[in-house]
Amino acid sequence: MSLKSIRINNSLLKGIDLPSLWLRERLSGDQFIDPNNLQRLYEPSLLDENLMIDDYSINDNFLRIKFSDGIKGKINIDDLYQEINSIDVIPKKKIWNKSDTLQLFDDNKIFENSHNLTQMLKTFYEYGYVIIENTQAIENEVLSFAEKIGPVRTTNWGKLFNVVSKPNPNDLAYTALELKSHSDNPYRKPVPGIQLLHCIANESIGGDSSLVDGFSVAEYLKKNNKEFYDILTKTNVNFKFTDIDVILENKSKLIELNDDGEFKQISFSGRLDYVPLLEEDKLKTFYRARKCMYELCNSDQFKIKFRLSQGMIAMFDNLRTLHGRTKFDPNTGFRHLQGCYIDHDSTEGKLRRLLK
Ligand code: OGA
Ligand code: ZN
Repeated sequence: MSLKSIRINNSLLKGIDLPSLWLRERLSGDQFIDPNNLQRLYEPSLLDENLMIDDYSINDNFLRIKFSDGIKGKINIDDLYQEINSIDVIPKKKIWNKSDTLQLFDDNKIFENSHNLTQMLKTFYEYGYVIIENTQAIENEVLSFAEKIGPVRTTNWGKLFNVVSKPNPNDLAYTALELKSHSDNPYRKPVPGIQLLHCIANESIGGDSSLVDGFSVAEYLKKNNKEFYDILTKTNVNFKFTDIDVILENKSKLIELNDDGEFKQISFSGRLDYVPLLEEDKLKTFYRARKCMYELCNSDQFKIKFRLSQGMIAMFDNLRTLHGRTKFDPNTGFRHLQGCYIDHDSTEGKLRRLLK
């Protein structure tokens, strides 16, 4: 036989054409793949583009193939199925609103065994946040916690930031003002993926926390106001942070979609956004759409409200989950949070390793 592609007639792969070159790149075995690092030992770009399949058989869930360049090898059919169907071990997102219960975990249990850590990370990827209780309410504890699930991202502020009310702050977070639902640092490239906020003290009156599933808000807009949804997913807004020694800028849509039209990232920060000078009608629509998104993000329909008390950590996906706090009165007691960021790749990679 001499075939350009094959079709496998089993329940997993029936009806799908598998081209010869594509299969050739997927041969397993030490001759093709380094067993230590699972990387390819040859250059796939140099394979013959007219490569044919001379013979093949299926046995014990393996596809065995002889190619026209004389190479023989085998491929696991389950691996093919998972790759073709983009089956990932990272759990699917669960969209939530205020009526969902708070996802709470106990710091004393999470690192007791890999099952508990896996549960915490799975929940984090499903809901876009978790709340950790019973951590030590001491400085730098947020770094000790974060370093266990992924290296901390250092920014121009260093590894961590202190959220305390202080005079002449370089950010409104460091006042006692209310912070409406927002994403952190949308002006960075890339925007920090995971944020942790650790409460060392919260003795003031006020200073309660809230979280909002930005994807839930986006889904609501998609269903209920297509005009607003369209302009929010198409307009690039400039986010800008001005400090003494840096000016950080990054453009993004308030609702960013991936190539498949799925929600990829929410960027919302009314303190820092600069809307482009669109033509009059479009600008009007954009402003109405942003106001609507602001109202939804701050409404009781979407907001989970809770108090981040001493020893608690809020860990959230800063590309999906918005956060905020009510104003507080620093004269009634001390309030001190410490925060840091982690990139998604390391934490997601940790979970993938735990699940495989
Ligand atoms: C921040 C922030 C929330 C809080 O520092 O970015 O949103 O509860 N703080 O103070
Ligand atoms: Zn913030």
